[in-house]
Amino acid sequence: MSITEEVTAGDILPAKDAVSMIEQIDLGPTIDIPVVPPEADPEYTPAAERDRLKGEILRLKKERNALILSHNYVQRDIQDVSDAVGDSLFLAREGAKSDADVLIEPSVLFMNQILAAMKKPHQKVLAPDLGALCSLAAHADAGRIRDWKRDHPGGLVISYVNTYLDVKAESDYCCASANAAKVLEHVLEHSDPDQPILFLPDVFLGFFAAKYIEKKGHSLDRLWLMMGACHVHEAIRPHHVEEQMRLHPDAAVVVHPECGCTSACMRQVNTGLVPQDLLQFRSTQGMVKLVREIPQKEVIMATEVGNMYPMSKAAPDKTLIPASAEALCAFMKQNTLQNLHDSLLNLVHEVTVDPELAERAKIPIERMISIG
Ligand code: 13P
Ligand code: SF4
Repeated sequence: MSITEEVTAGDILPAKDAVSMIEQIDLGPTIDIPVVPPEADPEYTPAAERDRLKGEILRLKKERNALILSHNYVQRDIQDVSDAVGDSLFLAREGAKSDADVLIEPSVLFMNQILAAMKKPHQKVLAPDLGALCSLAAHADAGRIRDWKRDHPGGLVISYVNTYLDVKAESDYCCASANAAKVLEHVLEHSDPDQPILFLPDVFLGFFAAKYIEKKGHSLDRLWLMMGACHVHEAIRPHHVEEQMRLHPDAAVVVHPECGCTSACMRQVNTGLVPQDLLQFRSTQGMVKLVREIPQKEVIMATEVGNMYPMSKAAPDKTLIPASAEALCAFMKQNTLQNLHDSLLNLVHEVTVDPELAERAKIPIERMISIG
């Protein structure tokens, strides 16, 4: 049995071991992936009905004094009626500073939980569908983190934003894809040199952050990585990107660091095979900004396909090419115009969190919001 066959989702390894096996890793989801409802495709619903629902949502939003916060992966009609559309870090920041009576977030549960932990007493947090979970968040178990802390006294925990509140409550810092490397660097520079650090749960993002700090002269000796992955991003492999680069030799490439192609893409840049400005790594919102700024007319995008919409809005003159057209998050697609409408109308489904967990989780979340 090879070492990678012995590794299962949620295991915690010294970073050096995790890094050495990164290209063999194939963790897969440990929870059921829901069926994508047909309404997730805007074309499924007649235009007149979509317009009616959008109009009603805008009316209800005013009536309820609600703020709609949407992730870049949700379907375009929902993005169009939202007050804020962006990546996890941006949505956490926008939610935390809002005074609206209702914070409604058609995205996924871990994002709703952040709002619920940070909300002001008069606010209500709503999710259109409580089944919008996350395969990556499901890989992190709070009990295993407690065990690691017991075995590594003084150890510091950085958890990616894609985790549930019980995991965040066990953490010293949270980070998002937009600031993961910066948060790790901050922790390295503000801790004792013998303090172990655990980064969890995304091993590809952990790899990306580890390589960043290595470049800055830090050793990986005290870093540990959890072996977790998002089934959508993990499935974007090096061959997907290589094939699109072959078909579009003049295109720029932008990769989300949760992808299964992260290490291979980093190697292409580090070995000088591809110039640094032609292959870059960004959060979803970073991609939206980048596509506007770069001169290339064609851009290969390695992340969930929903991100094509905000990118195409930001740069309508560019041709966007998904590295993998199959990269679709069925959890994000549980949000539809209809359930967003019903959620605002009936003020359901309220997301509440355990107050004690929320108090503890607020500390790492606030640190994430303030770094980078
Ligand atoms: P960002 O939008 O923060 O880059 O994260 C991507 C993601 O997978 C959210 O679940
Ligand atoms: Fe989770 Fe992956 Fe979906 Fe993002 S794309 S919400 S990480 S399952």
